Amino acid sequence: MADSIILPEGTKAERYQSLIQQIKSLCDGETDRIANMANTFSALHYSMNFFWTGIYEVKNEELVLGVFQGPIACTRIAYGRGVCGTSWKEKKSILVPDVEVFPGHIACSSASKSEVVVPIFKNEKVVAVIDVDSDKLNYFDETDQYYLEELAQWLSVFF
Ligand code: SME
Repeated sequence: MADSIILPEGTKAERYQSLIQQIKSLCDGETDRIANMANTFSALHYSMNFFWTGIYEVKNEELVLGVFQGPIACTRIAYGRGVCGTSWKEKKSILVPDVEVFPGHIACSSASKSEVVVPIFKNEKVVAVIDVDSDKLNYFDETDQYYLEELAQWLSVFF
């Protein structure tokens, strides 16, 4: 198992490609979901300089806080509420360039300024959402969404 993540200089897409490949090697041979998500979100968080990086899992018809890196966060989110609950309800990724203008955004931290949420599907049902936040406005774009969706698809095998 590698003991650190090293990313090449280059475009954001190149950094994500290298990161995802290294995350897969890091988790190779390990089947435990918590262990794999813990390393995945740590690698993602520190490699991409996010403010908050983690997952909410669908449990008993609500989202419950799962493995994450960053400041403490809201523990439960209802269906259709906030960016996470809306992503679950609409079964799609949501890019939020400015959290202040997203209706119903749930502010776990006032330092969070932009966000992207990506659902994880199992048998066409949303089982969890990946949530990443930045303390900078407009931090995320379609490239982040694309690679976070790739990561979500890979993580779905552990559910
Ligand atoms: N902002 C999210 C809540 C989760 S925190 O950002 C970690 C939302 O509106 O659903």
